[in-house]
Amino acid sequence: MGEILKRFGISIGEKLLKRFDRLIKEQGYSNRSEAIRDLIRESLVKREWIKGGEVVGAITMMYDHHKRELVDRLLDVQHSHHNLVISTQHIHLDRDNCLEIIAVRGKSKDIEKLYHSLRSQKGVKHTSFTLTTTGRNL
Ligand code: NI
Repeated sequence: MGEILKRFGISIGEKLLKRFDRLIKEQGYSNRSEAIRDLIRESLVKREWIKGGEVVGAITMMYDHHKRELVDRLLDVQHSHHNLVISTQHIHLDRDNCLEIIAVRGKSKDIEKLYHSLRSQKGVKHTSFTLTTTGRNL
């Protein structure tokens, strides 16, 4: 179902607008409207996160599976937070390194705790977290 589109004007400095146009061109936007809509959505998602609402996201971890007991510890952490973990994907990058992508859903504070428990494990080389929304409020 199509939503009614509203138009509004924006006053913006010439230099800032030029920089914005260059940025969105690099990012592949065909017009300003879609870029501005995405910026607004991003702000709303960040606010959901800050307010402690239910969010979804993906935690990625890169680690050497030869590190003693690391795999067990990572699994223990995930099992302790099984209510937040939707699914995991494990990729054997090479002989030593593994990439794990964990899809999560829950209260932002709980997910933050899970993320920090995983990233602080000795032997984890790199982690990142991508936040998005359940989509219900957008
Ligand atoms: Ni592996």
